[in-house]
Amino acid sequence: MKKIRIEICVGTACHIMGAHELIEFTENLPEWLNEKIDYKLSPCFGVCHENMKPPIVKLNDKYYENMTPTALKSMIMKVLEGREEL
Ligand code: FES
Repeated sequence: MKKIRIEICVGTACHIMGAHELIEFTENLPEWLNEKIDYKLSPCFGVCHENMKPPIVKLNDKYYENMTPTALKSMIMKVLEGREEL
């Protein structure tokens, strides 16, 4: 199975709106889950200027707005269980 690519924006708007919580969550995933993920931080994606609400995360090639650790975990699990295509 291909790894899920997670990019967390660390631009100003996303930082102010809680990107650090997403970073903390992602950096503390259990080992079995961590092995299924490629994770990196990113400068502003530019989509916060297109009416998307920060914090914004890119999963594979798709942007998700207003992301929380709970929502991110839910997305990861849906993809792993085949309930969501990215
Ligand atoms: S600051 Fe995060 S997308 Fe612009």
